[in-house]
Amino acid sequence: MRLFIAIEFGDEVKAAICAALDALGAAAERGRLTRRENLHLTLAFLGDVPASGVSRIRAAMRRSSGPCFDLRFDGAGRFKRRGGDIWWLGVRYEAELYALEARLASNLRAEGFELEQRQFTPHLTLGREMRLPPDFDGDRLPAVEPAQSVTGITLFKSERISGVLTYTGICTTTLKMK
Ligand code: 2AM
Repeated sequence: MRLFIAIEFGDEVKAAICAALDALGAAAERGRLTRRENLHLTLAFLGDVPASGVSRIRAAMRRSSGPCFDLRFDGAGRFKRRGGDIWWLGVRYEAELYALEARLASNLRAEGFELEQRQFTPHLTLGREMRLPPDFDGDRLPAVEPAQSVTGITLFKSERISGVLTYTGICTTTLKMK
């Protein structure tokens, strides 16, 4: 199973992100926008893990719990790619988010999972293989104003179902109330 651990968004935040998605889609000549159901913020990407590994992941998630916090969003940006750019939405600095990711990475490694060494760069992918007019400015996208109250982290399975990229929640660990 292809697995990752992420923060889920509520309806208000999803609606605000969808306004940015719609504006990006309207301006794009082509590209693949993220589906509303798939919006999330990844904390750890595990890759292919046998089903027997889920209990160890769950244990690492429980040990990584810490205080709840609010997540706020930033402007949009792009990674240039030859076949079309990746557009993403940034996340404002929040110490508790980085602390949570660090605990999670350390506890998952202690359970024997190999994670990528690259630095954590919190972002939310809006679209891939996007082609926009050269003068398009990401600042023109509607800002995502509402904050997301982060009260838990969820283990997701990623798979293609009838060709559609689908993320299914397996289990959620709650964070501690402030
Ligand atoms: P991305 O949106 O930047 O691709 C499911 O694939 C989630 O895990 C996505 O949020 C994806 O981030 C993230 N992820 C992190 N590292 C990945 C990797 N090496 N391969 C695929 N997805 C990865």
